[in-house]
Amino acid sequence: MATVASSTSGTSSTGGTAGAARATGETGGPGEDALLAAFDAAVAAEERIEPRDWMPDAYRATLVRQMAQHAHSEIIGMQPEANWITRAPSLRRKAILMAKVQDEVGHGLYLYSATETLGTSRDELLDKLHSGRQKYSSIFNYPTLTWADVGAIGWLVDGAAITNQVPLCRCSYGPYARAMVRVCKEESFHQRQGFELLMALSKGTPEQHAMAQDAVDRWWWPSLMMFGPPDGESAHSAQSMAWRIKRFSNDDLRQRFVDICVPQAEALGLTLPDPGLRWNEEKGGYDHGPIDWTEFQQVLRGNGPCNEERITRRRTAHEEGAWVREAAAAYAAKHSPAAADATAVAA
Ligand SMILES: [Fe+2]
Ligand SMILES: [Fe+2]
Repeated sequence: MATVASSTSGTSSTGGTAGAARATGETGGPGEDALLAAFDAAVAAEERIEPRDWMPDAYRATLVRQMAQHAHSEIIGMQPEANWITRAPSLRRKAILMAKVQDEVGHGLYLYSATETLGTSRDELLDKLHSGRQKYSSIFNYPTLTWADVGAIGWLVDGAAITNQVPLCRCSYGPYARAMVRVCKEESFHQRQGFELLMALSKGTPEQHAMAQDAVDRWWWPSLMMFGPPDGESAHSAQSMAWRIKRFSNDDLRQRFVDICVPQAEALGLTLPDPGLRWNEEKGGYDHGPIDWTEFQQVLRGNGPCNEERITRRRTAHEEGAWVREAAAAYAAKHSPAAADATAVAA
């Protein structure tokens, strides 16, 4: 977008002077009100806000919080499934699962890079994750007890993620929206491989069918919680929708997910563990039973079955990777233009 002044670069065609003036404290450029009005108009016109554009501090902070939480969820989300790589029942299943886990770290990397465009470093983001000051999705604090959990996660957890993330492809912040386009394509592969895995188990031996059903029974409710608290209790929803970061409310997205899953469960020959699930002709969707928000709050507060295990593993992985980061930084310094110049002078 070009209508909102830059606060850092001064390269925007209409706002460079204003941005420079604001950054240096000079007078004469548009004031905060004018910048805000231009920002609001750009959002209303469905233009993308780009890193160099002026944006309200609260918009920036909201994006950092949401994008960091998303990035953290991608890399923590590798753990429950990586747990099954060595025990996958065939080479084909192992290859699919490895590709999926690798995709998730890739999603994390896109999202950390996108978050860095808002002026926060990756070190800072990881430090906040490791010290508990930023969160990741509470779904990853549940254990993966059987092989069928890999299928249930793909079908339900990646399915819920897609439902949440497809509207984010139209998010007002450019780098986040563009990252989501690619992420959603890969999530869709994850959802399908999970469905196909559950289908194979469901049509297999009675024991395999029971294993698939048990996994769906355990993952169904936590998947519904992935959409966040009910609309009336969602702290950030209204402002995020006004800024066009979010396009649909938590409850609307949850409803969409339930409506997609019910016929898919029937196709799988599995049941969803909710006696309250029934078609509501009037609203053209399924009603579902009450969600246990006490459980959600408990997991969010760190008291889920695997919170401690997940964060400890993440901290250990970070410490064990220190030598890789140091080596990469040394290599980059050696091959930077400045280092090349110094070599040329010495020669
Ligand atoms: Fe992902
Ligand atoms: Fe995924």
